[in-house]
Amino acid sequence: MSERSGTLADDPFRGRNPTSHERRSGLPWDASYYNGPAPWDIGQPQPAIARLASAGGFAGAVLDAGCGTGENALLVASLGLPVLGVDVAETALAMAREKAREKAKDRGIEVEFALADAFHLERLGRRFETVLDCGLFHTFDGDERPGYVASLASVTEHDGTVYVLCFSDDGPDTGPHPISQEEIRAAFNPSNGWNVVAIAPDRIQTRFHGDRGAPAWFATIKRIGHPSRSR
Ligand SMILES: C[S@@+](CC[C@H](N)C(=O)[O-])C[C@H]1O[C@@H](n2cnc3c(N)ncnc32)[C@H](O)[C@@H]1O
Repeated sequence: MSERSGTLADDPFRGRNPTSHERRSGLPWDASYYNGPAPWDIGQPQPAIARLASAGGFAGAVLDAGCGTGENALLVASLGLPVLGVDVAETALAMAREKAREKAKDRGIEVEFALADAFHLERLGRRFETVLDCGLFHTFDGDERPGYVASLASVTEHDGTVYVLCFSDDGPDTGPHPISQEEIRAAFNPSNGWNVVAIAPDRIQTRFHGDRGAPAWFATIKRIGHPSRSR
């Protein structure tokens, strides 16, 4: 990390609070993308997300929170839906934009990628019917989750859906920072405006797990409808 300090340009976190993962590693997320593919960057959409896309799980405007190099966002955009991918890693976003340029040439796919902190999604000034979190939630410690979930609430339409694909604690061969079903239900609950509709066992492919990938939970979470519209 740079020894210099003082200006925003010198700050690897660009003025935001480093996440627990960044504090532990001492590096900004962006550094994960400097020397070849990051461990989670499999160069294609996660199979669980591809299945969801084929099954019609995405609707309306879609936000991909922590989009990385954009494979999942590009897949969803290929369905003809408007997609915004956000991340704090500028290097990943540059890669995602390059892929999007290529795809736009080939097939007219349009997708936006923007630098944004998942803890302050309200700054986007936009709302989404579907939000995808593929591998972001599980990077946050318990004390960060309320802030992240409130941030998600600020951009998710009432009756909209958040999908969370995260490493599960149901081993063997669990990924780093595995999450229990109870932790998902504690983070998203009726008292903060969410209804966990389903949590299904699934897999996350990585570059360091074998062909089967790591155990995962695939959670489908609904933002509770606006009270004035309920009977
Ligand atoms: C495990 S990677 C998953 C990337 C991508 N979703 C995928 O499936 O390949 C987590 C991503 O979340 C991003 N990230 C971490 N903290 C973030 C934050 N506070 N706001 C936005 N993105 C964040 C990281 O830069 C990284 O790209």
